[in-house]
Amino acid sequence: MGISENSEVIVPPLTFFATASTVLFCGGRPVFADIDPETYTLDPASVERRITHATRAILPVDLYGQTADYDAIQGIADEHNLKVVEDACQAHGAEFNGKMAGSFGDISSFSFYATKNITTGEGGIVLTDDGQIADRAMLLREHGEETHYNHVLLGYNYRMTEISAAIGIVQLQKIDEIIRRRQENARMLTEELENVKGLETPTTGKGRVHSFHQYIIRVNKSSPVSREKLMEHLQKKGIGSRPSYPIPLYEQPVLKNLRIAGQCPEAERLLPQLLELPVHPYVKEEDIQLIGESVRECLRS
Ligand SMILES: Cc1ncc(COP(=O)(O)O)c(C=O)c1O
Repeated sequence: MGISENSEVIVPPLTFFATASTVLFCGGRPVFADIDPETYTLDPASVERRITHATRAILPVDLYGQTADYDAIQGIADEHNLKVVEDACQAHGAEFNGKMAGSFGDISSFSFYATKNITTGEGGIVLTDDGQIADRAMLLREHGEETHYNHVLLGYNYRMTEISAAIGIVQLQKIDEIIRRRQENARMLTEELENVKGLETPTTGKGRVHSFHQYIIRVNKSSPVSREKLMEHLQKKGIGSRPSYPIPLYEQPVLKNLRIAGQCPEAERLLPQLLELPVHPYVKEEDIQLIGESVRECLRS
């Protein structure tokens, strides 16, 4: 892709750390654009404002199970001759305008970490329809070995083990059911939590199918109790909840030490309000009712 020391890659501030470290490992510099408050994914208008002569790529994250706006982002990329690298690590089964997450951009990736919509224990996959990128990825995976004992670049051991792959094959057979259950749990939970003062349920952006890797509520300014109080209350009821990404990525010590900064007012405003609630496939209907009752009880107090 031609990432050199001065290359800039535009990334969101609200995501897992690996999104930014990937850019640094390639020798580039992450530049933070703000998020769209409706979907929490990259805001295309903010992306445009961050483009400089050094920008080489845009790295949108399909966050919480919802894709970025690839119509707008691909349009910007085409106009400025930039690559798009899709981080679909949280979005197995999500869709945008009838196309699956992972099919956007020049290259994309899924994680199969244990908490993801499907898992191989550890590991992941990259996807591309560009033959040159595919060849390079395969070389990087196997110590840069083009033919037996002929190493043409510095690569790594990124091979998936047979055991992980065997787990993955079985997970793939179950993926539709896993995602259907997540979506159904999310639908029921939204019904439970709609119209509770001070609380906002997740929205699904235009053209999107949400696969609910995470179900994120917002405990906003008009809530009678703080997000932390709500978490305490839920914990007493045996319900796990946690803040989603406590700080914007650019506040992480490692990035500060590298003098990588950012300014994303929308992300900073929303982050303190976000709370993850469980909707994974093993959450049952009665659990959803209990979560609903417990949240309502706490916000009434
Ligand atoms: C958005 C995002 N990008 C990248 C990763 C990294 O994936 P892995 O843990 O499989 O390296 C994760 C999750 O862990 C993630 O959620």
